[in-house]
Order: sequence, then C-alpha cells, then structure tokens
Amino acid sequence: METMNPKAILETRNLTKVFPGVIALDDVSLSLNAGEVLGLVGENGAGKSTLMKLLSGVYAPTRGEIYFSGRKAQFRNPKDALDAGISIVYQELNLIPHLSVAENVFINRLPRRGAFVDWAKLYRDTRSILSDSGMDGIDPKAIVADLPIGVKQSVEIAKALSYKAKVLLLDEPTSSLTGPEIENLFSVIRRLREMGIGIIYVSHHLDEIFQVTQRVHVLRDGKTVVVVPTVEADEEFLVSKMVGRDIKNIYYKGQHTPQEVVLQAEGLSDNLLKNVSFKLRKSEVVGVYGLLGSGRTELLKAMVGARPLKKGTVKVRGKVAKLRHPLDAIKTGIVYSSEDRKGENLFFGNPIWKNITYLAIQVGRFTKNGFTLPRQERRAAADFAAKLNVKAPSIDVDVYNLSGGNQQKVCLAKALIEDPEIVLLDEPTRGIDVGAKLEIYRLIADLAAEGRAVVFVSSELPEVIGCADRVYTMSEGRITAELTGDEITEENVLKYCLQVDAAGEATT
Ligand SMILES: Nc1ncnc2c1ncn2[C@@H]1O[C@H](COP(=O)(O)OP(=O)(O)OP(=O)(O)O)[C@@H](O)[C@H]1O
Ligand SMILES: [Mg+2]
Repeated sequence: METMNPKAILETRNLTKVFPGVIALDDVSLSLNAGEVLGLVGENGAGKSTLMKLLSGVYAPTRGEIYFSGRKAQFRNPKDALDAGISIVYQELNLIPHLSVAENVFINRLPRRGAFVDWAKLYRDTRSILSDSGMDGIDPKAIVADLPIGVKQSVEIAKALSYKAKVLLLDEPTSSLTGPEIENLFSVIRRLREMGIGIIYVSHHLDEIFQVTQRVHVLRDGKTVVVVPTVEADEEFLVSKMVGRDIKNIYYKGQHTPQEVVLQAEGLSDNLLKNVSFKLRKSEVVGVYGLLGSGRTELLKAMVGARPLKKGTVKVRGKVAKLRHPLDAIKTGIVYSSEDRKGENLFFGNPIWKNITYLAIQVGRFTKNGFTLPRQERRAAADFAAKLNVKAPSIDVDVYNLSGGNQQKVCLAKALIEDPEIVLLDEPTRGIDVGAKLEIYRLIADLAAEGRAVVFVSSELPEVIGCADRVYTMSEGRITAELTGDEITEENVLKYCLQVDAAGEATT
C-alpha cells in the first residue's frame, strides 16, 4: 500500500458519493494525522456530513478509497468502522436515557461473569476511560437522563473511546452546548490529541475552528477547495473559499421604522416563565437573547398557545387573544418556527413541498370543498423553496436527505408561506452557513420592511446585536433587560443575560 502521507492515520483518495440528482462528494482526497484536529468547513450542502458518513461506514462510496492505519478499508456498515477504530459522534446523541453512564458506554458489550453483568468491572473500566480522557468529573453510575447535554456528549465520546477509537469524527458538536460546555469539550479534545487520536471537526463556527484545529479542509459543492494550516488562515479567507466570493459585514438591519404595537404579552407565568411582559411592533425586528434554559423558547411558545399559561394575557392588535394551539395563532396571523427541526418542525419521510405546505393545509389553504389542490400547493411550495434558496435537486426530495442548513430553510419556508403578520423565529440560523445566514438576515429585514413584525431568538450574540432594533435579554424565566439603540452592546447583552440575584432569581 502506498499512502501519500506517511504520517496519516486516515486518508481518502478521490472519494465520491453520488445520490440521485446530486454529487454530494466529488473526488475528495483528505488526510488526517494521528494527534491532529482537522477542521472540515463548507456551506450547507457542501458534503461535510456525507464525508463523515462515508468514513464511518454509514454509506458506501460510489468511487474512491479510504485508507485507515495504512490499509485500504472497506466498511460495510457502521459497526465495521467502529471495530476498526473510527467513531462518530452525531449532533443528535444516541444514548439510552434511563441507563447509567457506564451502561451506555459499554452498551451491548457489558462485561460478564458467567451469566451476570460484572458491575464492578463495568464501573472500573468506565472510570478509567473517563479519567484518561479528562472527564473525571462524570459519575459512571449517574443516569443519563439526569445529565446536562454537554455531559451527555462527553458520555458519547467516552463510548466512542471504549471502542479504542483512533479516529473521532465530530459533526457540529457544539450546536446544543453552552459556553462552559464548549470549553469543556475543547479540553477533552486536547486530551484526546495527546493520546494520539485524530479528530475531524465539522463546524460552521469559525471561531471554534481557529481554537481547536491544526489544519482546515474546505469543501464547496462536494469538492476540495483548499487545505491549509490553521495558522495561515483567517476568517475572511475561509469564508471566501467556502462561498466562492468575498463577504464582509454579514449583519444587516435594513430600512424600516417600527410602528404601533401588534403583539403584547402581559405577566406571562408558567412553570418556567416568571411574570414576563413583552411588546412587539409592526415593522420591527426584536431579538431575544438568553442562555439555554433562560426561557427564551418557552416565551415564544407561550405566545402562540403551544404552552399552557398559569397567568398572563396575550394581546394581538390590542385585543386579548385566546390562543390554545399554534393553529389558532396562525389564524390570527402569528406564526412560530421551532428551533427543534427534527422533533417539532419537519416530517422526515415526506418531500420538501409537503413539509412547506403542512401548516397551510391545516388552516384550510390549498383546499376546496374538502379536497386538496395539489397543483396550487406544489406551485406555492416551489415558489417558497426558491425564495429561500433551498438547495435540492427538486421539491420532491425527502427532507430527511437535505443537509442541516437546507432543512432549516424548509422550516422557514413553511412558516412564511402563511403570509404571517407576526413572525416568531426560534434560532432561525442554527446550523446555517455564512452565506445562508446573510440571506436570512436580509429576509428578516425584508419582512419588517414589508410591515411585518419579527421576533427572533438566538444564541449568537453578533446576530442579535447586528440585526435587532430592540433586544430583550432573558435569564431564569425572566426578562432582565430591554435594550434599544446604543444600549445594544455585547457587554450589556451579556451582563443582563447572566443576571441572577443571590436567591437564584434573575433581577432587573
Ligand atoms: N441520503 C441522501 N440522499 C440524497 N441526497 C443526499 C443524501 N444525503 C445528502 N444528500 C445531499 O448531498 C449534499 C451534501 O449534503 P451534506 O449533508 O453532506 O452537506 P453538509 O455539508 O453536511 O451541509 P450542512 O452544513 O447543511 O449540514 C446535499 O445536496 C444533500 O441534499
Ligand atoms: Mg451536515
């Protein structure tokens, strides 16, 4: 065997994957060294996840080879890759909630003594994996369901390591993590490097790429554009390689002047929200910023009737609205787009067009005398897919097969086809690449310019600061500040979203 790079632990040569109507990966040659973190970046649909799935045995390549530890590898399924030493940690974790950490780490391979599980050995082995990789703080006996998401991800990494992984594939690992959890992941990654493990790190967050990687491999339209040592790249360079053009200053407020209040919440309380009052004006973009668990999602859901309230009222155009279900909200002109693409928003197994029109059909659009009008339905769906620049060979493609970012665009199309007056967007840019983010910021500004009212929840500080006319910060179920104009600064937003008083309650 003749590898091109003698240090490489993993190499691909001319790796190609063709799906009906798309070349997802086109002739990609990549190499990963032991003890190296290789960043893999590119726009939505560039082929990053496809590459990871080829390396982990989920897909078989259409063409090209994979070399692992100096040998040509042919993985027939994920287990082959796992047994060989390549582990993948997906964004949606695959743990069994009611089992302990140790049982999850050694799932299907619990050590036995005769007919019985050797619990002592199980805990011992798990503890040793955890401490080797710098995750000492995790109790092998803890039940997974009780753990915060960041710790769950560490358990998933420990599980990967229990297979004696030499290569770890991380596909957008930080998308559900909070700041301290990200720091923790980075320290685990550093420890794994010292152990000689090679890591491929996929992310849309270039700041993370600069922090953890040693080299960066850029893909565009399934092809390699460039591979560079991280120290030789900067953000502008990577972005221009990813999108094939120069992009500067992607944030965008647009031209619009807020008018009268169209949505008003007063004293909303439930098991999480504490006396939240909120206003939104016509032709206005409001940003809501708070950490995970601050109540930001719950606030949006409470306003469309997706959460039962203990107290409080929601007024639409000055009148108290009794919204018991998000469909009631749609009929009043308010649409909510969930952050939970897979769980609440999309119907996997169904084509793009059906997903886009799903809510519209529910409120009686594209139907006549009880019959659906599929031609009109399809045409409208196609228009919105085009408007949002959903990249797919056709609108008949199953949304399951779309890249993460394109799934997000389908979610937005599904909301906007309602022609809502009031648009509530929860994390509209999660998992979306820079180019597409810019499109979404423009879209939000355009919605406001058309006289609509937009609220968006985000955990990305620069986009809140760059795109909102007014910002509410939230912490522990309360609104801790309302910022406008010059008050919208990074310092202020962070200060208020962390504000918690001695009693554990957020204050203003
Ligand atoms: N199973 C599949 N069937 C058909 N097409 C697919 C399948 N999986 C991926 N694709 C297509 O292949 C292309 C590459 O998708 P991939 O998921 O690899 O992109 P990505 O770089 O991970 O994007 P994102 O940043 O949005 O996650 C896309 O056009 C996608 O629609
Ligand atoms: Mg992906």
